[in-house]
Amino acid sequence: VKIAFTINGERRTVEVQPLKRLLDVLREDLGLTGAKEGCGEGECGACAVILDGRLVDSCLLPAYRAHGRVVRTVEGLGTPEQPDPVQSAFVAEGAVQCGYCIPGLVMASRALLDEEPSPSRPRIREALAGNLCRCTGYERVVRAVESAALTPHRACGAEPPPGPWSPPPASPGDDVRVHLPATLRDACAVLARGGVTVVGGATDLGVLMHEEIVAPREVLDLSRVAELHGVRRGDGALVIGAATPYADLLRDADVARDLPCLHAAVRAVGAPAIQSLGTLGGNLANGSPGADAVPPLLALGARLRLASHGGEREVAADAFFTGYRATVRRDDELVAAIIVPLPAAGTRQSFHKAGTRRAQAIAKVNLAACARIEDGALRDVRLAAGSVGPTVVLLRGAMASLEGGKVADLDRLAAAAGAAASAEVAPIDDVRSTAAYRREVTGNLVKRFVVSLHGERGR
Ligand SMILES: Cc1cc2nc3c(=O)[nH]c(=O)nc-3n(C[C@H](O)[C@H](O)[C@H](O)COP(=O)(O)OP(=O)(O)OC[C@H]3O[C@@H](n4cnc5c(N)ncnc54)[C@H](O)[C@@H]3O)c2cc1C
Ligand code: FES
Ligand code: FES
Repeated sequence: VKIAFTINGERRTVEVQPLKRLLDVLREDLGLTGAKEGCGEGECGACAVILDGRLVDSCLLPAYRAHGRVVRTVEGLGTPEQPDPVQSAFVAEGAVQCGYCIPGLVMASRALLDEEPSPSRPRIREALAGNLCRCTGYERVVRAVESAALTPHRACGAEPPPGPWSPPPASPGDDVRVHLPATLRDACAVLARGGVTVVGGATDLGVLMHEEIVAPREVLDLSRVAELHGVRRGDGALVIGAATPYADLLRDADVARDLPCLHAAVRAVGAPAIQSLGTLGGNLANGSPGADAVPPLLALGARLRLASHGGEREVAADAFFTGYRATVRRDDELVAAIIVPLPAAGTRQSFHKAGTRRAQAIAKVNLAACARIEDGALRDVRLAAGSVGPTVVLLRGAMASLEGGKVADLDRLAAAAGAAASAEVAPIDDVRSTAAYRREVTGNLVKRFVVSLHGERGR
């Protein structure tokens, strides 16, 4: 495939195999060796570059996705004579030792400062949470970012993209066929032909392709399908395009205000470079029981719109999963939209993830919870947990034990609901945790949510 993009301010065209990783195109085809390979699976941030103003892991991104985009690598930030303020600050603060992680850390810092020129310390830590460093220690890195924030800088990604967009032309030697449709209708028509791998943000697929578990022959990429992007408000619901990157959801004022448990869950997915690409459609279709964005969808009573060449249908999010990594979605269907009813006024929402570390950890247990108080009683209680069985589940026993319960009796209700939740889940022992721990944490998270309702005034 022939991809044309703007890289470090210069327009370039390269002919590469479509699924070659952007990291390899940068290093092998363009001689830009600043981006490094650490893990090759989105975990370490050593390969991070800025794509259209957002931090991405170039080890996960198929080359064709760079077509028509603006890419900036560490080579494009500054020169030895005129370094970027972030680079100068890293040197001044002694934040560089072996240097292997530094291009990625510098790019993550630059992406943060371009969007948020004066970030707080916790925000800096959050923005860099996906970048691992083995030797420097993060304190100096954080100080460097604070110091760079004091120096004004021209934003990256400000250059115009290389002309009006059209799909990249295929080359005779391409080993994979790429479809980048602009409309849902065209996307469904491609899918109807069969044998096509759907690509959302490629954050799950990128890992599977790296490990050679998946080797697509033909891909249907949703990143240019307009109908699948954005958040629309209407008919008492927020309708979220299934291919909307998490980063867009995090910046959406309606999602932040009306769906705080979904907002919190999205913020807990991976780290910023994963959030720049990953989508709700991928989280759902991937079918992992540990998917973080899924429990809020069940707790909020979301419906999923599935689209195919033959038409559309809707299914309740809690009826989507049929078993471990199995869903009701047919091969010819896309997850097109997630329809989340606006919660009744006064609904209290929460999301909690128990993992081994703040970023990039798959949940040992996660819980999304919603409830409101009316006339001194709990109403519309919905609890959904992940990593406690083959699929994300509604905790129906705990929900039933709470529904209608009197607020005056909250502590007893919390204990009973916690016990019900522990009893009804079916977790397993695995590398991340034990079944016994997961049962106990599920109960504790439910208890904690119920107790947190003390002080809610309700109606
Ligand atoms: C380093 C790292 C950290 C991660 N951390 C987390 C985490 O903390 N929590 C978490 O939940 N996940 C995590 N993930 C997993 C992943 O980021 C999420 O599952 C993400 O939501 C996948 O979305 P995607 O668009 O990238 O999916 P893709 O990789 O593009 O696709 C995943 C699957 O869904 C299918 N698919 C994608 N979109 C659609 C659609 N609209 N309709 C039908 N099928 C579709 C694809 O064919 C594929 O089978 C992490 C991944 C990495 C690499
Ligand atoms: S090489 Fe580790 S995130 Fe890409
Ligand atoms: S400076 Fe060596 S890995 Fe970070």
